[in-house]
Amino acid sequence: AGRDVIAGRPGALSAGAVAVFFLYLRRLYSPMRRVGKSANRYQLAKSSAERVFGLLAQEPSVTSPADPYTPETVEGAVTFDSVTFAYDERPVVRDVSLDVPAGATVGLAGATGAGKSTLLKLVPRFHDADEGTVSVDGVDVRAYDLQSLREHVAVVEQQPYLFSGTVAENVAYGDREVLDGESADDPAARERVRAAAEAAEADGFIRDLPEGYDTQIGERGIKLSGGQRQRVAIARALLNDPEIIVFDEATSDVDTETEERIQESLDRLVEDRTAFVIAHRLSTIRDADRIVVMDEGEVVERGTHAELLSADGHYADLWAAQADERPVSADD
Ligand SMILES: Nc1ncnc2c1ncn2[C@@H]1O[C@H](COP(=O)(O)OP(=O)(O)OP(=O)(O)O)[C@@H](O)[C@H]1O
Ligand SMILES: [Mg+2]
Repeated sequence: AGRDVIAGRPGALSAGAVAVFFLYLRRLYSPMRRVGKSANRYQLAKSSAERVFGLLAQEPSVTSPADPYTPETVEGAVTFDSVTFAYDERPVVRDVSLDVPAGATVGLAGATGAGKSTLLKLVPRFHDADEGTVSVDGVDVRAYDLQSLREHVAVVEQQPYLFSGTVAENVAYGDREVLDGESADDPAARERVRAAAEAAEADGFIRDLPEGYDTQIGERGIKLSGGQRQRVAIARALLNDPEIIVFDEATSDVDTETEERIQESLDRLVEDRTAFVIAHRLSTIRDADRIVVMDEGEVVERGTHAELLSADGHYADLWAAQADERPVSADD
């Protein structure tokens, strides 16, 4: 048939027609490929959607009991009684017992992966203990109305979660009055947001943002630094004036000034409430009433800063290891 083209017989294809044919073929090819790609993308989207719906359909394992305990007031005493917890098979919290009176400040130290964050997630029931009991004011946390428990126990996470929205909305996040229909624009709600931000040493930098408390942050807005994010999270935690607070210090590097500001907000944070402060820089917790040192899921030491230094054990090693990260002080 090749010869027919060249010969130009009637009814055969001319060379020009063949060229045009290939041109059109190429034009057809690219949309075909796109259809193929879309089909692929459709498959991907479909399996993601299935996973999302699967997640939504999952029964939460942590729920309020049938006859929940909703106390009027909470003192804030926290007890861990032989608590063990595993994410899978391997326990990351092993047989931990701690008795913390209301109003005390407990510092937590220990190597990365020791189980510090996990242990304290058991108080607001982000997870439930596999063995043993965590109680608040002598009552098992599993007996509490879940929402009520979480109003009394606030957590400032190691990597705070901020969503796309204004700064004010991010501070008010989880606030019952705001959730119940009162918007973050309500003057009383706004005043509470501002007071919490002030206590968190965040009011100053928020005012300096282009639109103050109404500045959009997150995906479509401006990006906050690690220290700023943590201070927004502290403000959020302070909003409900909880009796128990867990502060999980960010591991990421923050500059000295930010560190000082966070330390200042931390002092306000622990005042007049039961506080657990997980420290990566041990200088954060040297004034704590008691320091608990964890290693591989277990509590290996407890005492004040001075006691632990003279015990010359695990804590003293950690303290010595961080010596070059600290400004020189008299008692090193
Ligand atoms: N959601 C999770 N699922 C499975 N394993 C986890 C999860 N979170 C933590 N782990 C594991 O549990 C162990 C304890 O982690 P945890 O975050 O409590 O340690 P940590 O003492 O807070 O450490 P860091 O100082 O790095 O914050 C680690 O081995 C960690 O990998
Ligand atoms: Mg942690």
